[in-house]
Formats: sequence, C-alpha cells, structure tokens
Amino acid sequence: MTSTTTNQTDIPHLLREAEIFLTDCGRELGRSPGETEHRIREVRRSIREQGTYAHTNEELAHGARMAWRNANRCIGRLFWNRLAVFDAREAETPEAVYEALLRHLAYATNGGEIRPALTAFRPAEPGREPVRIWNHQLLRYAGYARPDGSVLGDPHSVAFTRACEALGWRGEGTAFDLLPLVVQTDGAPPRLFELPRELVLEVPIRHPDYDLFQGEEVKWYAVPLLTDMRLEIGGIAYPAAPFNGWYMGTEIGARNLADPFRYNLLPRVAEGMGLETSSNASLWKDRALVELNAAVLHSYRERGVSIVDHHTAAQQFEVFQRNEEKEGRAVTGRWSWLIPPLSPATTSVFHSRLEDRQVYPGFVHQPTPYE
Ligand code: ARG
Repeated sequence: MTSTTTNQTDIPHLLREAEIFLTDCGRELGRSPGETEHRIREVRRSIREQGTYAHTNEELAHGARMAWRNANRCIGRLFWNRLAVFDAREAETPEAVYEALLRHLAYATNGGEIRPALTAFRPAEPGREPVRIWNHQLLRYAGYARPDGSVLGDPHSVAFTRACEALGWRGEGTAFDLLPLVVQTDGAPPRLFELPRELVLEVPIRHPDYDLFQGEEVKWYAVPLLTDMRLEIGGIAYPAAPFNGWYMGTEIGARNLADPFRYNLLPRVAEGMGLETSSNASLWKDRALVELNAAVLHSYRERGVSIVDHHTAAQQFEVFQRNEEKEGRAVTGRWSWLIPPLSPATTSVFHSRLEDRQVYPGFVHQPTPYE
C-alpha cells in the first residue's frame, strides 16, 4: 500500500505557509492585527511543539473558499464565497467517512438545486496516515476493458474499476454502472461501500427534437463531486477534501459523452440526426456536438437540475475577474482549461491572457493510492 504522507514535516516551510495564510485569512475575515498576531504566535508554538497545528473551523472554511478562488482550471469561481464547508476532521473510521460523504451528497444534491460544498477529513499529520478516498469522483460510472481492447462504460474509470474488482466488487455490466466508494484510514486496507441509489440523482439525456441515441439509454449524474484532489491551506495538507459545484454543460456534452476516448457518442448522434459522415467538411462532428450539448442542457433543465451553459459561465467568470481586480487580487488561470470546448472564441475568456501560477490555499493533484 502506498504511503500517502511523509512523516518528516518541513518545519520552516510549514511556519512560513502558516504565517502567510493566517495573515491573509485574518485580513479577509476582518480580524484585528492584534488578533492575527496572537493567532500566529499560538500556531508557531504548536508547530514547534507538535510539528503541526489545527485550523479553527473559521480558518478551514475560509481557506477552502480561498482554494476555490485560486483554482486555475475552474471557470465557476464567481461563487467561491458561497462554498459550504463541512468539518469532518473527527471522522476516524471508513464508516464515519462514508456517513459524512452521504451527508455531503444529500446537501449538495438538494433535490436538483445543487449547492457547492466541501467536506474536510483528517489532514496529514506527523506519524499518522491521513484519510484517503480512492475514487476520482464520488459519482462515476465504471469502465470495463474488453479483450478486444474496447471499453464498456467510461474508459476514464478502467483502472479504478479494476482496483474495485480486485477488492471483490462486481458491477452489473451496463455502460452506466455506478462505482462504489473506496475509503482508507490509518493506512489500513481500503473499505468498499455501495452508494444508496436514492441519494444519487441522475439525468436521462434526451433531445427535444431528435432521437439522438437511437434507443440507447444515455444519462449522466447531477453532482460533480471531486474526491481525489489534495487541499492545501497554510502548509497543512488535506488529502481527502471532496468538493462539488454544479456542471457546465460542455463538461458532459463536449467531453464526457463526446471525447473519442470517453463515451465517443458523436458518430451515433450523427447517425441519429441523419448527417453525412463521409466527409469532414460536412461538419458533421460539429453539428452533432451542438445538438448533443443542447440535449444535455435541455435534459438537466427539464429535470430541475442545476447546470450552466458555457456562455453564461464565461460571463460569470468576467464578473469574477472584475471583483478580484477591485479587491486588488490577481486572477491566475489555465487558459487551456478555462476556454470551453465548444465555440471557445465566442467567449471572452478565449481572448484574455492569464498567468498559470499555483496560488495557495489551493487544490493540487496527488498520486492515486492504487495501481
Ligand atoms: N469535468 C469533470 C466531469 O466532467 C468535473 C470537474 C468539476 N466540474 C465542476 N463543474 N465543478 O465530471
């Protein structure tokens, strides 16, 4: 089993990061300079004596919101200050982690009116393994590699699906089998949990005018809830800090369902629309892509599930940029991720320049615990 933490804390680094964070956080929360000074002294002492320190609830909540604000690949950051933050640092067992995640999912789903939220589990600390969640997202469909090299389901999930099978899990064998939750605490062998169906909101995708999929069932889940990124606040690493927003339509319609290495539905959609697919210049892929995305937006709307189209999201990002400028903060971003995969040049973000520099508090990638 891969170790997810080092037991050597880089003390000078921790002291530095803690001080920077507590200074910014104190200012943004309206703490007096005296209060902030006092808090920094307290944290310094804790780091010297125990090699770590614990965030207050307020610091954790604001730090998580700052991390969203600094998420270079996220176009939805306008709403950073409305992130609900749940403190689950006391969850010790896989069962307790599972329960906290179910509460998070129910809160986030909210009958379709999706609420952005983050749950923080026990962080890395000297001499103890942090909580680890093996899933990429809490809700995700399995991918089964077939002997002929093709994949049933979501090719993105093949390695994780194999890991689940190695732990004894067996899926039904459809293209949309919900994967189980895999949780690991204290470096012990991982535990596997099925998610209660009634907590998982899904949306059947259907076009108002065309039979896009010729009878095949195509659906997607309502809540994108990322479980594999590490949250770093003031030098403290939270390897399990799952968070969610709501979907932008193109994530599903132009990537998950359309990428040739994902569900690869454009050829089928083109057929459903009766398009001429023998010539690239007929723009059949583009026409199919537009209608697939229209179907996604239509279906979520019709079911009363929050979703944003890419034009509106880009406008919201512009408002975010103006707000940040007013606050005297530089907006960093990764252009290749911020531009929508559909009609990018119709949005202002395509024409803007952003510096792709990691700012903390922030979310970072970490190695998967399996494979
Ligand atoms: N792109 C990922 C997906 O399609 C989700 C990433 C987070 N997206 C979000 N809207 N918060 O599943």
